[in-house]
Amino acid sequence: MHFSTLYLFKIKPLKKFKIIAKTLFGLEDILANEIQNLGGEEITKLKRAVSFTGDQYLLYKANYLLRTAISILKPIANFEVRNEDDLYRYISKINWNHYMEINTTFLINAIVNSNNFKHSKYVAYKTKDAIVDQFRRKTGQRPSIDTETPDIKINVHITNNNCTVSLDSSGEPLFKRGYRLSGHKAPLNEVLAAGMIILANWDGTKNFIDPLCGSGTLLIEAAMIAANIPPGNFRTDFGFMNWKDYDELLFTKVKSEAKPKQSISCKIIGSDISKIAFDIANKNLQNAGVRKFVELKLKDIENVIPPPEGGILITNPPFGERIKKEDLNSFYSTVGTRLKHHFAGYEAWILSSNFEALKFIGLHPTKKHILFNGALECKYQQFKIYEGSRKKTDSMYK
Ligand SMILES: C[S@@+](CC[C@H](N)C(=O)[O-])C[C@H]1O[C@@H](n2cnc3c(N)ncnc32)[C@H](O)[C@@H]1O
Repeated sequence: MHFSTLYLFKIKPLKKFKIIAKTLFGLEDILANEIQNLGGEEITKLKRAVSFTGDQYLLYKANYLLRTAISILKPIANFEVRNEDDLYRYISKINWNHYMEINTTFLINAIVNSNNFKHSKYVAYKTKDAIVDQFRRKTGQRPSIDTETPDIKINVHITNNNCTVSLDSSGEPLFKRGYRLSGHKAPLNEVLAAGMIILANWDGTKNFIDPLCGSGTLLIEAAMIAANIPPGNFRTDFGFMNWKDYDELLFTKVKSEAKPKQSISCKIIGSDISKIAFDIANKNLQNAGVRKFVELKLKDIENVIPPPEGGILITNPPFGERIKKEDLNSFYSTVGTRLKHHFAGYEAWILSSNFEALKFIGLHPTKKHILFNGALECKYQQFKIYEGSRKKTDSMYK
């Protein structure tokens, strides 16, 4: 019997509920698009998040398939609070046995933006007390906190007087894709890398180049997009797997519906001057199962010659720590010159937190976004490189 036919015997219509997908600053629009493509309803863009409604099937799909979500929350209670006593009282009204058992370990993450609540740690502490006391009253025993690998993660979000309590269905944040075994000095967050590629509208049909590829994050995320490999493909754990309502068959269905491709229709090319970076990228590409889709070279950007048919270049150059200002400006100028003289027909996208150095690229940005690489505010700029405009742009900056 066909798998999906077998599955039909089990399912009854699933209940819909509100879901919140958290993301990074600047990626809200593309996350909302991704959610729409998965079938989310009542989609609303928020600050660094998108809320929508969907059922358990969509919740699993969101975790497994969204490239630009950091975590997927399921709100379970919302109430008004003036102080810690209110908080304790309302948290106590939630039937926690619905979500966990005595032997379930848990962790509370509190985010507070309110004049009435100054310390997020104290909010987490009060919430923990209310949960533990409820179990103690009913059974004489209490569940334990685990700060490393908790079975369930509970989010408490207070904005002014409004408190939302959610379960984190992702567990470990979703940028931890599971392919990065070796760290590089300054690797991009995987969600940021995927967001940069999607913001640039690259869909795997034209050539992709990162000539300063470091640990290979952009190359891997690009290859996964081109080959339709789900971002959750390498993860063995999601928070929802520890929930009392976990439906293993439903998650198996979500995974079986993904159809990765065996070949891709463009070139993905990466290079770096550092042998250490090259080795790390090589390993990470292998771990992600995309080594066969990527040409990787040990090369100075000054020697990079791209395929003549054009395409896209997306990269993040060094941004200045450990490098003298003059050297950095002159490096950005070298990158700009290389682009002007060898990348006609390409569209280049450069992410950098060093706004002064970016000017030394010496080309006019045709699009700009603000993104954050960790705490660092970055400009993400598009430069279109035309054969005919080379002389003009050259002379403008001389
Ligand atoms: C900020 S890191 C890129 C990080 C990368 N996106 C990642 O996720 O790991 C910049 C990279 O530029 C490389 N680099 C610096 N100068 C270079 C040059 N002249 N040619 C090629 N690569 C260079 C460095 O070795 C470093 O790996």
